[in-house]
Amino acid sequence: MNAERIRIGLLGCGTVGGGLVRLVTQNRDRIARRSGVDLEIARILVRNPTRRRVEIDHAKITTRPGEVLDAGCDVVVEVIGGVDTAGHLVRRAIASGASVVTANKALLAAWGSELAARAAERGVRLEFEASVCGAVPVVRALRESLASDTIHRLSGVLNGTSNFILTLMEEEAMSFDEALARAQALGFAEADPSLDVDGHDAMQKLMILASLAFDAEPGRVIVEGIRDVGRNDVSRATDRGEVVRHVATAEITGGVLTLTAAPTTLPRSHPLASVRLENNAVVVEAAAAGTLFFAGKGAGALPTASAVLADVVQIARKIARDRAAPKAS
Ligand SMILES: NC(=O)c1ccc[n+]([C@@H]2O[C@H](COP(=O)([O-])OP(=O)(O)OC[C@H]3O[C@@H](n4cnc5c(N)ncnc54)[C@H](OP(=O)(O)O)[C@@H]3O)[C@@H](O)[C@H]2O)c1
Repeated sequence: MNAERIRIGLLGCGTVGGGLVRLVTQNRDRIARRSGVDLEIARILVRNPTRRRVEIDHAKITTRPGEVLDAGCDVVVEVIGGVDTAGHLVRRAIASGASVVTANKALLAAWGSELAARAAERGVRLEFEASVCGAVPVVRALRESLASDTIHRLSGVLNGTSNFILTLMEEEAMSFDEALARAQALGFAEADPSLDVDGHDAMQKLMILASLAFDAEPGRVIVEGIRDVGRNDVSRATDRGEVVRHVATAEITGGVLTLTAAPTTLPRSHPLASVRLENNAVVVEAAAAGTLFFAGKGAGALPTASAVLADVVQIARKIARDRAAPKAS
């Protein structure tokens, strides 16, 4: 059977976009054999066309959005980041009839409902597995596997930077400042770490997960970061056989959907206590399925690109089925 050619327009070719090109190049034949779709990265939008990029066909690179968005691509992947330019390009992609895959939690936090409505109206897909917990397939689990279940509670270690810092404070007896400096030196924290260490990144991700898990808008939102966690707090927890983690929790309390992202002391036996360094994890407590635990790499080129690619392949298979349907009838 011939694999169906699916053309991809790539918006952004940095950490995640570069990882996606690498994964598609390495796995194209296997994806074609297993999934019946032949993925072709048709055009790639970047800001700086002269930047050296390993394993990228420079003939595909452009700085003109129209050369990607008007190229008749089946799927547009947005891995530029930020809200304004990314939002504008995603709206154009949807309007052109392309399905969209994004890894951009900030975009979803700002415009997620509007973009989902536009995609539904245009009859295309908007997928975002990589936007929460990188490689960990928790978005798909909530959207599909658990869609008919009732979720009682969802909690997770959603910010790798904060978890990296708390792990060093616990295991290497570092202060917050020392652990942050180490995280920055190793590329696990930005030069301006506020989004991560003040809890906002975790809350953006929690909002995405809560929108999938609960049929309610958040009524209470509490955000606290880890800046005020001292070395003494961590060592006192260690002495009691506990650990400090930055935990994001969504649950209905008193009839209100409450979202909390804050430092939390957990017994060592708690599944989230075992999450170390830059890893992410989510515990889902569901009425029928029971308690489920998802864990893995929440960031990085290949882990994040693997989640983007999973979304692309899922959409591509649907497109291939739709194209085959009229022929079969
Ligand atoms: N990195 C991760 O581990 C990770 C994990 C989960 C989710 N994400 C999300 O994935 C998205 C991408 O992150 P990233 O780390 O891959 O970012 P990045 O390394 O900074 O790459 C961004 C890419 O977008 C291009 N770009 C930026 N602004 C542009 C503009 N105005 N016009 C055209 N091209 C533009 C850049 O072009 P140049 O190459 O020319 O500079 C670059 O190729 C973000 O939303 C991020 O939150 C990342």
